[in-house]
Amino acid sequence: MSKRDSVVLSSQEVEKQKDKILEIKHLLSDRKNKKAFIETYGCQQNVSDSEIIMGMLCEMGFKKTENKDEADIIIFNTCAVRENAELKVYGNLGALKHLKLKKPDLIIGVCGCMMQQEEVSKRIKSKYRHVDLVFGTHSLYSFPELLLRVIKSGSRVIDLLDTEGHIAEDFPVKRQEGPSAWVSVMYGCNNFCSYCIVPYVRGRERSRDKASIINEVKNLANEGYKEITLLGQNVNSYGKDLDEKIDFADLLNEVCKIDGIERIRFMTSHPKDISDKLIDTMAANKKICKQLHLPFQAGSNRILKLMNRVYTKEEYLEKIEKVKKKMPDITLTTDIIVGFPGETKEDFEHTIDVLEKVRYDTIFSFIYSKRGGTPAAVMEDPIPMEEKKENFDRLLDVQDKISYEKNKVLEGKVMKVLVEGMSKTDQSFMTGRTEGGKVVNFKCDKDMKGSFADVKITEAKTWSLMGEIIK
Ligand code: 5AD
Ligand code: SF4
Repeated sequence: MSKRDSVVLSSQEVEKQKDKILEIKHLLSDRKNKKAFIETYGCQQNVSDSEIIMGMLCEMGFKKTENKDEADIIIFNTCAVRENAELKVYGNLGALKHLKLKKPDLIIGVCGCMMQQEEVSKRIKSKYRHVDLVFGTHSLYSFPELLLRVIKSGSRVIDLLDTEGHIAEDFPVKRQEGPSAWVSVMYGCNNFCSYCIVPYVRGRERSRDKASIINEVKNLANEGYKEITLLGQNVNSYGKDLDEKIDFADLLNEVCKIDGIERIRFMTSHPKDISDKLIDTMAANKKICKQLHLPFQAGSNRILKLMNRVYTKEEYLEKIEKVKKKMPDITLTTDIIVGFPGETKEDFEHTIDVLEKVRYDTIFSFIYSKRGGTPAAVMEDPIPMEEKKENFDRLLDVQDKISYEKNKVLEGKVMKVLVEGMSKTDQSFMTGRTEGGKVVNFKCDKDMKGSFADVKITEAKTWSLMGEIIK
């Protein structure tokens, strides 16, 4: 058995699961108009996993619905990164009890990162008896087999693999509407940042084979997708576990060669791993969007050390300088944690300092949430929540100003926008994104969904831009 045999799901296993899909389709063939609803919590990796689950459900004969009340099957794909996401899941799951009483045939499933934690799955088992199916990230690909067991036996099925999940290729995927698609290039994380649950619930880093990724992107191009985002918890580790000598920059170059795909994005990069080669590859390749999401988490070197981030504030800023020098118009985004155990006012000032030096376009900021089983969970934390919240609010104030200023300079410029569809808030507007990933809303009397439009920016807002189409 080669090293890869234990990572990639065997074709026999894939075929077995596909047979289960057909068996379910057959079993449920007298139930016309079956509908499936998936609620996804957390990161893009979960969004991508949900697209695979929905793909399987569609092959079983279900139609996708956005309305829980009319669904015959409801799946919650959960996130364990912060406590508030978990609380939301418990709340929303509790609310399904009434629906199940009204519709006893309704199948309720819960999957994703939360389920990889033993105490969570135990709680679901004992307190949420209306849940029919529980499975973790590692058993994603056995979903057809598990669902078939639920349907045949009419009893609850709880499946929690604690061995690492396989990479499975060739399953159907039901993607979100629009011109952009997510493509996972690797799963898991080896970094063990001290606050983070991801390595425990998603396992070690596993890269997909280049050929499978290229094949998927070529198919997407043939289907008319224009933009892809390559996904992984730490994309810069791509290839380290493969027999083939390849790194993430090489992969990007290969993806750029595919005709039809005009924009390529990726996330997430770890500052310690972002190489000069990657920066040069980004700068040299027109198809690679000049947008970089580079989480710094905290500005204080003392806190960075406690977080096990393995870089200093100075090293981080140096990398950003390199990036800006090669790509002066780059859009920069980041993740920040406020209130890590013991983070003092003085520590926090360094976070503000990074914000002011880098001048990100957008930030994703979070108040630290204690995750059981991680090293940070047992660190002393004398800082009151009130102070953490004060710091958090200040962070947002500082950033809002920067975001607005960075958008303001775009007023009057003509930007190429990939149109995603109608604006959700005002149907007379279309919405799309710039190369940097900024949202642009603009009046347009024809449906330009899926095509590129030249849009003149007329007004900057803090989180988006208004524009008018250039005829
Ligand atoms: N508390 C708060 N934020 C967290 N993140 C990860 N773990 C935690 C936690 N325990 C944030 C980090 C990461 C993003 C995806 O979520 O900023 O980059
Ligand atoms: Fe979590 Fe750190 Fe891995 Fe990101 S790099 S998933 S923050 S452990």
